[in-house]
Amino acid sequence: MHDTTEQVSDQPGWSQRQIAYFRARAAEYDSAYDERQPMLQLVKVLDELPVIGDVLELVCGTGQWTHLLAGRARTLTALDATPEMLRIAHARMRGTATRFIEADIFNWEPDRQYDTVFFAFRLSHVPSVEMEAFWALLRGAAPGGCVAFLDDSPAKAEIEEPVAEAQVPTARRRLADGSQHLAVKVLHDAPSFTSQLNDPGREAHIDPIDAYHLVGIARPWGSE
Ligand SMILES: C[S@@+](CC[C@H](N)C(=O)[O-])C[C@H]1O[C@@H](n2cnc3c(N)ncnc32)[C@H](O)[C@@H]1O
Repeated sequence: MHDTTEQVSDQPGWSQRQIAYFRARAAEYDSAYDERQPMLQLVKVLDELPVIGDVLELVCGTGQWTHLLAGRARTLTALDATPEMLRIAHARMRGTATRFIEADIFNWEPDRQYDTVFFAFRLSHVPSVEMEAFWALLRGAAPGGCVAFLDDSPAKAEIEEPVAEAQVPTARRRLADGSQHLAVKVLHDAPSFTSQLNDPGREAHIDPIDAYHLVGIARPWGSE
C-alpha cells in the first residue's frame, strides 16, 4: 500500500522536470544496474555502512538498494516521488514488511523518527542552493541518528551532456524512445564535499569508492 502526498505548485521547476524525467525513465532504469559492473563494488561498501534499527530510504527508485537494506533494518520505509519507480520497487519487495511512501521530498514531513537514513544518487541531483533544506529534512527524520549515502563523483562528468544555459548545473538525458529530459547534476568531489557538509552540528565524512562513486556518512544530528 502506498501513502500518497499531494503535490503542490510551489515545487521548484527543476524538481518538477526531474521527476518527469524519472517517471519516463522508470521502465528502463534497471538496465543501468545490469550493465554496470562497478555496482558490485558499491554493494560491498553498503555492507560496511552503519545501517541499523529503523531505516528510511529516500528516493528508493526501483528498489535496487531497498532489498539490500531490508535484511539489516528492524523496520524499513522507502520513499520516492515517482509511482512508476515505486511499482517496480514494490514488486521487488513483495513478501517483506517494507512500508512505501509516495511523496515529493519537497512537500513531505516525516511522521516518525528513524535511526538511519540512506539514499543513493540523490545529492548530485540537488542544486547547492537547496542543499541545506534537504539536510534540515534529514535532521528531522533522524535526530541523533546516522545518514549514509552513495553518489557519483566528478569523473561521471565524462558521460554527461551539460546544458550550458541552465541556471543550476543541469544535464540532458536521453531515453531509449528518443525523448530528451533535463536533470540537475552537481558532481561533488569527496574532500570539498566533506568541507561543505561539516558544520558545528554535523560531522560528515565523504570518501571515494572507485573512480566514479563516493560514499558519505554524516552524524550526529540534533546536537547543535
Ligand atoms: C537517480 S534515481 C535513484 C534511485 C535509487 N536511489 C537508486 O540508486 O537506484 C533518483 C530517484 O529520485 C526520485 N526523485 C527525484 N526527485 C524526487 C523528489 N523531489 N522527491 C522524491 N523522490 C524524488 C526519482 O523518482 C528517482 O527514483
